[in-house]
Amino acid sequence: MSDARGTDGTYERIEESVRAITPRLSVAPQIGLVLGSGLGAFADTLGDLVKVPYAEIPHFPQSRVVGHSGNLCLGKVRDVRVVCMQGRVHAYEGHPISAVVHGVRTMAKLGVSAVLVTNAAGGLDASWTPGDLMLVTDHLNLTATSPLVGPNDERLGARFPDMTQAYDPGLRDVLRKVAKDAGIAIREGVYAGLLGPTYETPAEIRMLRTMGAQAVGMSTVHEVIALRHMRVRVGALSCITNLAAGILDRELNHAEVEETAKARRADLVRLLEGWIEGAAAGGNS
Ligand code: HPA
Repeated sequence: MSDARGTDGTYERIEESVRAITPRLSVAPQIGLVLGSGLGAFADTLGDLVKVPYAEIPHFPQSRVVGHSGNLCLGKVRDVRVVCMQGRVHAYEGHPISAVVHGVRTMAKLGVSAVLVTNAAGGLDASWTPGDLMLVTDHLNLTATSPLVGPNDERLGARFPDMTQAYDPGLRDVLRKVAKDAGIAIREGVYAGLLGPTYETPAEIRMLRTMGAQAVGMSTVHEVIALRHMRVRVGALSCITNLAAGILDRELNHAEVEETAKARRADLVRLLEGWIEGAAAGGNS
């Protein structure tokens, strides 16, 4: 439904969420984080942690997927103020795409200068190992939809946002440096975002490889589009929790995805801490 401005109320919903969150904030957050499957525990390591359940924030949708608790976490990493989505919702749960991106839009409106997105993903390269970490350099949005479908609200961003450098080059450099200094090997590649909720068929995996993807998952691309629309800088890191369908001669399951992500938690925490600090310092230090 359109209102008199020709918009659909998205902006007003973001403002209402922000109004519910700001009384819980002592200082405005600088950096936003989205924690994917099995990675949510990072939020519990924040200093001065304040947890706001999504249920207490108007318009925040709730995830029903195991491994995705739903809290907006406010706090500190070293000296950087962060706001962190502990759990996200996915389009395959049946949520409208506007709900899928409501959290990141709210973080953008809270004033963060960058958002670091994490996810669990399947690896397309047979030489990779479950547990590998991949810096996302670009994406393929293969969900056949976008959070920007519908009337454009100029208060959020332009009708035709540029996506040439969706994954900020400066933030990519920061992560490379943090990983090198910490002695943690990282891969780099293109993330293919699919609707799910099935894992892919072996034929789909062959197609994705031909298309130039190195990883596949069911999140991230809509969030990144919504953030770039709002001109927020984005970095993304995938935990390759399994090799994609058809590479090994066995079935995929969600428990394995969660376990592998948890097993890399210590390295992920180190990378995220350094990345947050570097991003807050300007992003290409
Ligand atoms: N495919 C899609 N999404 C995923 C996978 C996968 O193999 N692993 C973790 N998320």
